[in-house]
Amino acid sequence: MKNILDYETVSLIDEDDALEIIDQTKLPGNIDIIRLHTGEEIWNAIYLLQVRGAPAIGVAAGFGLYIFMKYSEAETYAQFLKELREKSDYLNSSRPTAVNLSWALKRMEAHVKAVAVEKLGIEDEADPKGLFNREVLITEMREESQRIKAEDIDVCRRIGENGLTLIEDGYGLLTHCNAGQLATCKYGTATAPMYLAHEKGLNIKVYCDETRPLLQGARLTAFELQSAGIDTTLLCDNMSASLMKTGAINAIFVGCDRVAANGDAANKIGTSMVATVAKRYNIPFYVCAPTSTIDMNTATGDDIKIEQRKPEEVTEMWYKERMAPEGVKVYNPAFDVTDNELISGIVTEYGVIRAPYKENLKKMFDENK
Ligand code: MRU
Repeated sequence: MKNILDYETVSLIDEDDALEIIDQTKLPGNIDIIRLHTGEEIWNAIYLLQVRGAPAIGVAAGFGLYIFMKYSEAETYAQFLKELREKSDYLNSSRPTAVNLSWALKRMEAHVKAVAVEKLGIEDEADPKGLFNREVLITEMREESQRIKAEDIDVCRRIGENGLTLIEDGYGLLTHCNAGQLATCKYGTATAPMYLAHEKGLNIKVYCDETRPLLQGARLTAFELQSAGIDTTLLCDNMSASLMKTGAINAIFVGCDRVAANGDAANKIGTSMVATVAKRYNIPFYVCAPTSTIDMNTATGDDIKIEQRKPEEVTEMWYKERMAPEGVKVYNPAFDVTDNELISGIVTEYGVIRAPYKENLKKMFDENK
């Protein structure tokens, strides 16, 4: 029988002009595969977290921009670019914190511009010689969006290999939220070292924080790790300090939505609490980040926009009846920022980057241009 890891998180269905995703709001009870045919549907799916996790959002947005532009009736290159930028801004407004979203959209636009020059010979946006060819640009957009997806798989695998060097036989590992296969196209980021450790026959135990309020840890991470046959234990978010104190945790791996140039890392709300407690108990705390999640244009964590979500996620969702008093004020940020001094290393596809992050992240980008 197929298990959750046999399904693609995000894929383009060419013959149906659609984006196919697993509706993650229904997991683990139902594996509902849905098809999205318009850019608006894709915006909505990202907003509602039917597709979620920074890399998967980026891949979905790339496909979304292609699907939007597939229906373009632009007759000039200038019109085409104007429409592309409008649609790109629209998709980018679906969620603000994960930089992979804007990263993928910018990459799509850059590719269109490069192809316009290299294949069509268009030297400037006004295209005075009338060399514009819509079909060529649209085909190229499809190919670029497929490349973003293929690279994500490769990058996650490499993060897994680099993260594996930090794991020993018998380790207890803790993770927060879902930075798993469901948040990417395969392997996940924080879970990639776990999948590879398991593949290699290492005896590991993984503890998953449930991750209030949307329960990505309980619904998604516990589900996918257990499906892989990994020894998985679920705990409420407020239990991780007591678990760390027992000595059961040897290392912590989390994902992230945006790493600033100084190494501060935004990830699911509660991550900074885990990192703070880990420091108290001398447990190494690793942030797994593809370079598409590292934003050298954001100086520090203070410059990262944090998504605020609806109060009902805290007061009503998952409860049979509303459990909080009517009218109570609710604090519901979706992410927090872990200060760089709490991070033992940032695991990227190019290796494990250590402090001082400002210098070493820059060096990594310079060496891998
Ligand atoms: O709100 P979500 O579920 O999209 O938040 C996801 C996370 O915080 C993940 O840890 C992060 O995006 C990294 S996914 C590899």
